[in-house]
Amino acid sequence: MYLHRLIYYSTNKIRDLGLPLAAELKAIISAGHRHNPAAGITGALVFNERHFLGVLEGDRRMVSAALMRIAADRRNGEITVMSAGAVDERRFDDWLSVYAGHSDAVDRLYLHFGLVQGLDPPRMGAESALRLAEALCRLDPKALAPVVAPPPAEPVEVIKVTPVFPGAQGRPATAPA
Ligand SMILES: Cc1cc2nc3c(=O)[nH]c(=O)nc-3n(C[C@H](O)[C@H](O)[C@H](O)COP(=O)(O)O)c2cc1C
Repeated sequence: MYLHRLIYYSTNKIRDLGLPLAAELKAIISAGHRHNPAAGITGALVFNERHFLGVLEGDRRMVSAALMRIAADRRNGEITVMSAGAVDERRFDDWLSVYAGHSDAVDRLYLHFGLVQGLDPPRMGAESALRLAEALCRLDPKALAPVVAPPPAEPVEVIKVTPVFPGAQGRPATAPA
């Protein structure tokens, strides 16, 4: 395996497409949980109503294939690769998703990374984006903002950090289909 890490950000276009935000985010997250551990991909998807920030770690062919799939997804736009390259070791042991909303703990992290208006990947360098993703994933889920702010009249949905462990449920992570 040639271990690579790729960091990207993109625009969240779910609302622009007139799609339900919480349901589509859940679908994206569950696709990641379905495919990434099976492909040996670890990392994180950090998101809010405006942006996605993704970290994909794994074999470079698998990481490339995942990026191609993501890039073809109309729910995001303007994918920008912040960094990509060989790495000696992973920074994530699982693939995690985390909502970058607002809570005391999360706002302290934004402050730490010089973000004045919450998650704003276009204003970040790759290394601080990676560290922010790591720090958000390490927070106690109780310290995270619990909801995706809904548009008026749409029910509130809770999106939690959902760790997935490769090889869970007794299957090896690379089990043939
Ligand atoms: C911002 C964003 C990030 C995504 N990240 C992943 C991912 O890491 N892994 C993945 O399999 N799908 C991811 N998806 C979903 C894929 O684009 C695609 O919808 C999904 O892989 C299709 O899975 P399916 O063929 O099982 O329905 C992402 C989508 C978006 C919009």
